[in-house]
Amino acid sequence: MARIFSGIQPTGIATLGNYLGAIRNWVALQAGEDDCIFCLVDLHAITAWQEPTALRAQTRQMAAVLLACGISPERSILFHQSAVSAHARLAWIFNCVARIGWLNRMTQFKDKAGRDREAVSTGLYVYPNLMAADIHAYHATKVPVGDDQLQHLELANDIAEKFNHDFGSAFFPRIEPLVLRESARVMSLRDGARKMSKSDPSDQSRINLTDTSESIAAKIRRAKTDPAPLPDNVAELTDRPEARNLVGIYGAIMGLSPAAVLAEFGGGGFGPFKEKLAEALITHLEPIARQTTEYLDDPTGLDTLLIAGARRASAIAEPIVEEAERLVGFLTRSDQNL
Ligand code: TYM
Repeated sequence: MARIFSGIQPTGIATLGNYLGAIRNWVALQAGEDDCIFCLVDLHAITAWQEPTALRAQTRQMAAVLLACGISPERSILFHQSAVSAHARLAWIFNCVARIGWLNRMTQFKDKAGRDREAVSTGLYVYPNLMAADIHAYHATKVPVGDDQLQHLELANDIAEKFNHDFGSAFFPRIEPLVLRESARVMSLRDGARKMSKSDPSDQSRINLTDTSESIAAKIRRAKTDPAPLPDNVAELTDRPEARNLVGIYGAIMGLSPAAVLAEFGGGGFGPFKEKLAEALITHLEPIARQTTEYLDDPTGLDTLLIAGARRASAIAEPIVEEAERLVGFLTRSDQNL
C-alpha cells in the first residue's frame, strides 16, 4: 500500500483547471487501496500577499469545495498545512539541502516573479522546498497533480536524493507524479497560451467551481475562439490553442477523447458546440456549487473536520520528521531519554 499526497493553495475559488487536472483524480484515487492525504497549503498561499481575513475564509471555502467534489473525510485525510508544524520544520531542513542553482531553474518562480524579481518574497523563491517537505513528511510516493507541478516534483526527488546521500541513509523514497494526460493543462478561456488560474485578474478567463449556471453559460459563450469551423481531426487542432482547449474540456467532462469530440462536432461552427459544452459543464458543476454552499453553512462542522484531519496528519508526519531531524544531528526526544 502506497501513500498519496497532494495539495492546493487556498488563494481563491478552485477552478475547472484544478478540478480536471487534479481534484477529480484525487476523488478517484481515494476509492483505491492507497492512503490519501490532501492538504490546503496556506503556508504556500502567503508566499504572495493574502488579506488575513480573506485567507481564513478561503481556507474554509476550499475545504468546502473539495468535500463537495467528493473528497471523503473518512477515506482521506483533509487538513490545512499550518496546523501541522512538521511541514515547516522539514522545509527548513530542505532549504539547507537544496541548492540555489536548482531553485534558479524553476520556471514557475520565473513566471510568478515576472520582471520584478527583487521585490517578491523569499518564500516564493523557496516555495518548491516546502512542497518537497509536504510530500516527504509523509513518505508519500504518489503525487497527483497537473503538469505545471512536474518540475517541482523533480526537484523534490533531487532534494530527497541529496538528503539521503548527505546523511548516509535511504530515508526518503522516490516520488512518482500521477498526471491525467488528457486534462493536465486546462487553458484560460481568454488566451489559449496561458493556463487557467485562480489568480488570473480576469474572472472571465476561468470557470470557478462555484459559478452560477448563468455565469458558466456566459463565460463559455464569450470564450475566445478563431473564425474557422471545428476541424475533423485532432492534428488540425495543433495550431489552434483555443479550439484545442475547449475540445479538451468537453472531452474531459464527458469522458471522450478529443477525436471522439471532433467526430461529433467537426465541420460545425463554435456556436452549437459551445452550447453543448456549457450544458455539460452546468450539469457537472451545479451539484458541486450547491453542496459547497451547504458545507459553508456549517463552519463549525468544517473546522471540526479540519482539526481532526490535522491530528491524523500529524500522527503520520511527526515520527518521520523527527527522524529526519535526528539524521541531521538535532538533539531530538529519542536521544534525550526523558
Ligand atoms: P495549485 O493550487 O496551483 O493547483 C492545485 C492543483 O491543480 C492543478 N492545476 C491545473 N491542472 C490543469 N490545468 C490547470 N489550468 C491547472 N491549474 C492548476 C495543479 O497542477 C495542482 O495539482 N504547488 C501546488 C500545491 C502544492 C502541492 C504540494 C501539490 C503544495 N504542496 C505537494 C502536490 C504536492 C499548487 O500551487 O497548486
